[in-house]
Amino acid sequence: MDESWVNSAERIGADLHLELSGPGGRRAALIGALREAVRGGRLAPGTRLPPYRSLAADLGVARNTVADAYAELVAEGWLTARQGSGTRVAGRVEPLRHAERVPRKAPPRARGPRHDLGQGTPDASSFPRTAWLASYRRALQQAPNEAFGPGDPAGRVELREALTEYLARARGVRTEPDRIVICSGFAHALRLLFGEGVLRGPLAVEAYGLGFHRGLLETAGVRTVPLPLDEQGARVERLGRERAVLLTPAHQFPTGGPLDPTRRTAVVDWARARGGVIVEDDYDGEFRYDRKPVGAVQGLDPERVIFVGSVSKSLSPAVRLGWMVLPERYVDGVLAAKGEREAWASVLDQLSLADFVSRGSYDRHVRRMRQRYRSRRDRLAAALAEHAPHVEVTGVAAGLHAVLRLPPGTERSTVKAAAWQGIALDGLAEFRHPNTDMPARDGLVVGYATPSEHAYGAALGALCGVLPPAG
Ligand SMILES: Cc1ncc(COP(=O)(O)O)c(C=O)c1O
Repeated sequence: MDESWVNSAERIGADLHLELSGPGGRRAALIGALREAVRGGRLAPGTRLPPYRSLAADLGVARNTVADAYAELVAEGWLTARQGSGTRVAGRVEPLRHAERVPRKAPPRARGPRHDLGQGTPDASSFPRTAWLASYRRALQQAPNEAFGPGDPAGRVELREALTEYLARARGVRTEPDRIVICSGFAHALRLLFGEGVLRGPLAVEAYGLGFHRGLLETAGVRTVPLPLDEQGARVERLGRERAVLLTPAHQFPTGGPLDPTRRTAVVDWARARGGVIVEDDYDGEFRYDRKPVGAVQGLDPERVIFVGSVSKSLSPAVRLGWMVLPERYVDGVLAAKGEREAWASVLDQLSLADFVSRGSYDRHVRRMRQRYRSRRDRLAAALAEHAPHVEVTGVAAGLHAVLRLPPGTERSTVKAAAWQGIALDGLAEFRHPNTDMPARDGLVVGYATPSEHAYGAALGALCGVLPPAG
């Protein structure tokens, strides 16, 4: 055995994952590594150690080095050696003392709410595992070799083609694959558009919206200007010198109504007249219950609207896939913002989604979930009609959440009471733009998608129990 080679190289034991390093030669290093493995619990009491010969071969050390190390550890009481049963870890080895542990505090276990009526997450138990797996398998089998190289920042053409057809059919979006850029969701789209300088502020936003998105824009240095809301949606006649406006036209988030048709044309007229652009957040446009889906504003003028969608509501926010449908003049800028290679959206997931959409699995899943959510919504309305008829339910024609209007001045105490009862939900104040001058509304934003089927009834019961009494 060439000792100089053994000493200079750091060898890893294949089975025991021993790392022989440190001063003092191979024998001392092996003794130290075995002791550490036993002490740390990686080698449990009773574990049989490999024969000298095989461990020596694995580690690139002399057989005698292993024999000596075992003998030493037997003498120290760490190991036992019995004829016929080989060398084993001793049963009475002291457990790791607290002070010897790596001083790392276990992160506190997040204890979920007892009743999850928070908005935002679809029913996780309904993720279409079987159909998604079938799409993933087919995608993997059929992917050309070049798909396993660096990805095109525009996204896989298979997915862009599938989306072109789907979005035209389901959302009235007019586009072509070259105008679509795949991203990892709406938040990513905002980062690409505003964080990388494709669009600049000031940006008009709805007076009630997702604080997370406002924060993201703020971080990008974009000033947001709140547009008040009324029964017809955002008051777009208030638009002035802003360069862009961010809207949720299919289902205002979170208050719930669609943007009125006259406002839809008015905002497009504003964009044309001012050279502005509309960013259309179509976060849950597929889930419309009472009438035909409200088509995308993008269909009115594809050169004035950036339409953004994602699978976060329709499938799961864990998938992290979304799409931006762009006017021609922004395509190069967004691609440049993404970089030379796809760094965000897994190509295999993109190919799976392409298969999932083009084979109709996406339509089937959305249809199934629409029925499920509609029945959840109906149960919510029925529970309120029975137990709290004075509480008006609004924003229920679409989406995965409803807004319960509360008597003025009761929102805070109701949210507190809900938290006290282990109910996760938000008050409307949570979503209010800090600079808006529109009168505050008291209300609860109640998500009805998240609880599993068997837990939903109890969640509704708990909710009814914390609502303020009739005034
Ligand atoms: C208003 C709104 N827009 C967009 C999204 C989607 O965000 P993302 O695609 O980043 O998950 C959500 C949440 O799902 C949302 O509440």
